[in-house]
Amino acid sequence: MRVVIQDNYEKMCKWAADYIAAKINAHKEDRPFVLGLPTGSSPIGVYKELARKNAAGEITFKNVVTFNMDEYLGLPREHDQSYWYFMHDNFFDHIDIPAENVNILNGMAEDPVAECARYEAKIASYGGIDLFLGGIGVDGHLAFNEPFTSLGSRTGVRDLTSDTIIVNSRFFGYDTSKVPTQALSVGVGTVTDAKEVLILISGHNKARALAASVEGGVSQKWTCSALQLHPAAIIACDEAACGELTVDTYKYFLDIEKKERL
Ligand code: GLP
Repeated sequence: MRVVIQDNYEKMCKWAADYIAAKINAHKEDRPFVLGLPTGSSPIGVYKELARKNAAGEITFKNVVTFNMDEYLGLPREHDQSYWYFMHDNFFDHIDIPAENVNILNGMAEDPVAECARYEAKIASYGGIDLFLGGIGVDGHLAFNEPFTSLGSRTGVRDLTSDTIIVNSRFFGYDTSKVPTQALSVGVGTVTDAKEVLILISGHNKARALAASVEGGVSQKWTCSALQLHPAAIIACDEAACGELTVDTYKYFLDIEKKERL
């Protein structure tokens, strides 16, 4: 695993956007580049920088197919807190991606289980995901795979913990009763099946999760720790998130990354 420590949120986002753009530009095959994407506040700076690069002609998304991680169950697309809305508002409306290349789980599907099976099959039809960008929750959840979700899980319906409902209520006027209690989410196994995984971890409130991801054992208690088994996982983080790492770990990654190239 690589852990790329940047001074602050802005630099972390710039690093991640440069990495993703380099991967897309290096992709010369006829088949599209398949990109997994998250919602949340963590990726917003990455989306802004990717949109800037797109506008500047440094990158195109015409041959990119995206799959989002998750969607609230019961929120229609038009709801301003649906992840469909978030993704269009923060990213897709600002880049040249063809609408038909965007895949987001349908939170209003009549049969949510069938919707999840369809999603997995569609990912497989493209030959899997080339790069999965993600964030994590303060309890280390990857997508909506809360603590104790199987590390081999696939796309399915998930119950949100009370903690996550409280944390996410900030987007619903701090009214926990307005936050959906369930979501559709890719599984931990769906994420770790990607050829590469890049996870953004920013801020003091994620420090425990970062330490668990990097220094703790592989455990379903911290679903993000599954990254340790992935052959090409990168965590991009900021200084603020490093507060719970041991000094040795922190120094190790700063030292080894001086030697890494993108
Ligand atoms: C939600 C999403 C996750 C995301 C997490 C963290 O729970 N389901 O995919 O990683 O929020 O969000 P933020 O980046 O705002 O801390």
